[in-house]
Amino acid sequence: MSVHVRFQVNGEVHELDAPDSRLLIDTIRYDLGLTGTKLGCGVGVCGACTVLADGKMVSSCLMLTAMADGSEITTIEGLAHDGELAPIQKGFIKYGGFQCGICTPGQILAAHALLQDNPRPSEDEIKEWMMGNLCRCTGYYKIIESIDRTAAGEV
Ligand code: FES
Ligand code: FES
Repeated sequence: MSVHVRFQVNGEVHELDAPDSRLLIDTIRYDLGLTGTKLGCGVGVCGACTVLADGKMVSSCLMLTAMADGSEITTIEGLAHDGELAPIQKGFIKYGGFQCGICTPGQILAAHALLQDNPRPSEDEIKEWMMGNLCRCTGYYKIIESIDRTAAGEV
């Protein structure tokens, strides 16, 4: 069975018929061609597939496309505006918050959501918020520094 879904992705309205079992990550990557969203574990553990649904972090590997009906989805491709990277993107670049980059779109979207919720988080608050986003490469220090320095306006 398929369901008719209408939602916004990065400000653009999309309407499509999706099989009722189609995962949001597959719709985003394969139907919409937005391959910035990465598949890691596929079971809701690693955070690589994080996107924002109405501003809240969701694991797109666990969310059905049908559940996104009526939502505003933001992927990593939607953070920059008019060719200008969002502050958190600049922060990750400036402070080296990535290595291989697989976890990075999810890390950046999670950090963006944090700073929307709490513009000047403590180090402990950053760690607690980001605990659902795993990274095999960086050792986390650079990710935390990137978020902290972005929050301080030093990007
Ligand atoms: Fe979705 Fe790991 S790929 S949480
Ligand atoms: Fe490689 Fe995080 S930068 S997994």
